Amino acid sequence: MANETAPDAAKSVIIEPFGEAGGREISLYTLTNKAGMMARITNYGGILTHLFAPDADGRFADVVLGYDTLQDYIDNSPYFGALIGRYGNRIGGASFTLDGKTYALVKSQGENTLHGGKTGFHGVVWDAVPFVADNGQGLTLSHVSPDGDEGFPGTLSVSVTYFLSDNNELQIDYKATTDKATPVALTQHAYFNLSGDLGSPITGHLLRLEADRFTPTDETQIPTGDLAPVKETPFDFRRLRAIGEEIDASDEQLSHGAGYDHNFVLNRKGKGLELAAEVEEPKSGRRMEVLTTEPGVQFYSGNFLDDSYRGKGTVFGKRTGFCLETQHFPDSPNQPDFPSTILKRGDTLRSQTLYRFSTVKNRR
Ligand code: BGC
Repeated sequence: MANETAPDAAKSVIIEPFGEAGGREISLYTLTNKAGMMARITNYGGILTHLFAPDADGRFADVVLGYDTLQDYIDNSPYFGALIGRYGNRIGGASFTLDGKTYALVKSQGENTLHGGKTGFHGVVWDAVPFVADNGQGLTLSHVSPDGDEGFPGTLSVSVTYFLSDNNELQIDYKATTDKATPVALTQHAYFNLSGDLGSPITGHLLRLEADRFTPTDETQIPTGDLAPVKETPFDFRRLRAIGEEIDASDEQLSHGAGYDHNFVLNRKGKGLELAAEVEEPKSGRRMEVLTTEPGVQFYSGNFLDDSYRGKGTVFGKRTGFCLETQHFPDSPNQPDFPSTILKRGDTLRSQTLYRFSTVKNRR
């Protein structure tokens, strides 16, 4: 693998064997920062398997759901911590038309394509190069998805860099190029639980979203095309409040996702990195901010987790983790009014998301 070409850089990124997939040896990379935070990433699916962050008393705990073995990730994972592509979230009817040609995609949820098809980027083996910088440690993952992969046109070259900074930020940089126009929307599917008890419900976490609108869906979770105001709905997270406050309210949109599972339209000022979300866990005092260059964020409250997901000595039942997947809007290839997800030959897709960790003392 490519990482063997960078022995110097690898000196302080710990590399351990993590089994085998698709006839290739898989590794687990441990990034550590000067403040003691630690991120573990495997080149299978680019999965963030562990992330240790301090509470208000300086005690570190793992804040992401995940497994102990590679086989568990292969056998039964709801995309725990994985990189998602070629298209994060859903494409309706598993098809789209581009430049007069209709493409049929591999269906991965009913009639729709979810998270890039059956073998999306969450299930491929990435080439990995670890590195050490002045202000942190990182891992660059790269992958070439062949023309026609899961039905998508164009040879797509993707690289994703995870960087754990000494300021307690996990930064993710995405880059992609293609030899033929194609839709691309990349994201990261970590399930967070900031409490320090990964088997406990996340409904007591406080959430604020920088979003006045969201994209309502039909019952198969495909956007209707509307950008609906969150005001006076259970989707109003413009002020910090508990995720669980209205999660079980009788509401048609909530019923489509069995809770929150919707794309929020971020109130953006420009094109740079802007705050999208903040989350606080009152008991531990852990706080996470999400910044992104993307126009949307999928807030998923872990409604489809169930007792079959077991790892790290616990059971990941319903709503024990939440995701904040920064993204372009679902089904954009079929929605002319949504921001375009078409990457053209000669252009480079660049996208950045940052999960910043800190603590609050006064909320306990
Ligand atoms: C989707 C959910 C899905 C989850 C895990 C989220 O991005 O919006 O509907 O259950 O991923 O697959």
